[in-house]
Amino acid sequence: MNKLLIALTILGLCAAANFKCTSEMKAAKFCTMEYMPVCGIKMAEKGSSKYSSVKATYGNKCSACATEGVEFYAVGSCDEYPKNVTFCHPEAHLDLACTRELNPTCGLFDNSITCSKGPCGSNFSNKCMACINEHVSYLLTGFCQNQEQNKQ
Ligand SMILES: *[C@@H]1O[C@H](CO)[C@@H](O)[C@H](O)[C@H]1NC(C)=O
Ligand SMILES: *[C@@H]1O[C@H](CO)[C@@H](O)[C@H](O)[C@H]1NC(C)=O
Repeated sequence: MNKLLIALTILGLCAAANFKCTSEMKAAKFCTMEYMPVCGIKMAEKGSSKYSSVKATYGNKCSACATEGVEFYAVGSCDEYPKNVTFCHPEAHLDLACTRELNPTCGLFDNSITCSKGPCGSNFSNKCMACINEHVSYLLTGFCQNQEQNKQ
């Protein structure tokens, strides 16, 4: 029973969307060398606080968040994601305003939305519209191609 709970918890962590660096994490003066890589993201995209593609892999979440400018992180090294990935800020969905211009975007869901195989995605009008969906964790430019349609 306990083992099952632990397994589910670990699964839940891996499946979660992106995580915001707290002010405590940003102020950390010391990080362990433990290797549990994360993809740390800096908000450098012009005109948006909702998403960014400025990323680098860090040995663990502590060293990511202690790095100047890193605002949030995705679990695993950046190499585990598609090359041209853009990550949604974990709080992007709290913002209700998006322009409606058409800029085809494929939004990939976190594991709260599952597909039978492969990544689960949906087409969105633009990056803002994708990230405002709380289940979307990252984006690719253009319409979805090899991603399965989500049957939400
Ligand atoms: C994807 O990344 C490659 C290499 O990093 C780059 O040459 C290409 O222009 C990018 N494509 C898009 C659609 O951003
Ligand atoms: C997204 O749009 C493209 C182009 O219209 C289509 O081929 C694809 O099946 C769509 N994918 C999803 C997941 O809706």
